[in-house]
Amino acid sequence: MSVKSYGIRQMILSEHDELRRRAQEIETALERMERIRRANAGELEGLLTAFYARFWHHIENEDKLLRPVLTEDGKKAIVDRMDKEHVDQRARIEALSKLLLHTTPHEHVAKLRAFFEELRKEMHEEEDLCLKPEAPHDEPMRFDSCCGR
Ligand SMILES: [Fe+2]
Ligand SMILES: [Fe+2]
Repeated sequence: MSVKSYGIRQMILSEHDELRRRAQEIETALERMERIRRANAGELEGLLTAFYARFWHHIENEDKLLRPVLTEDGKKAIVDRMDKEHVDQRARIEALSKLLLHTTPHEHVAKLRAFFEELRKEMHEEEDLCLKPEAPHDEPMRFDSCCGR
């Protein structure tokens, strides 16, 4: 694995960590909301809006940065799987964002819980499939330039 491809994987992994933290924060807010039986819709809406934006950006990063690295490594099956998953994830975020416009987060608690559970599973599988940390090795470019090829 090249230094560049290692760096991209590390970046995607740290985005996964951030998304997990944000998901946990939203779930805690959902629990609090249910406990006090008074929807703090404003706080939760803010968290959700930020989460959807972050997640959308994360998918874009994977498409722009991780996809070429996987393609270069000849991992076509994983790339195809990722493309399909991203289409599906974008559709889910769009559907949930629309829901937010017409209902309060309180009204779609079950959908949100299912969404985060699914997302954690997908991120975990993605990490197993193509983000496992491996030590980077030097870019072959160095050889090329030193040997004049
Ligand atoms: Fe992904
Ligand atoms: Fe991801």
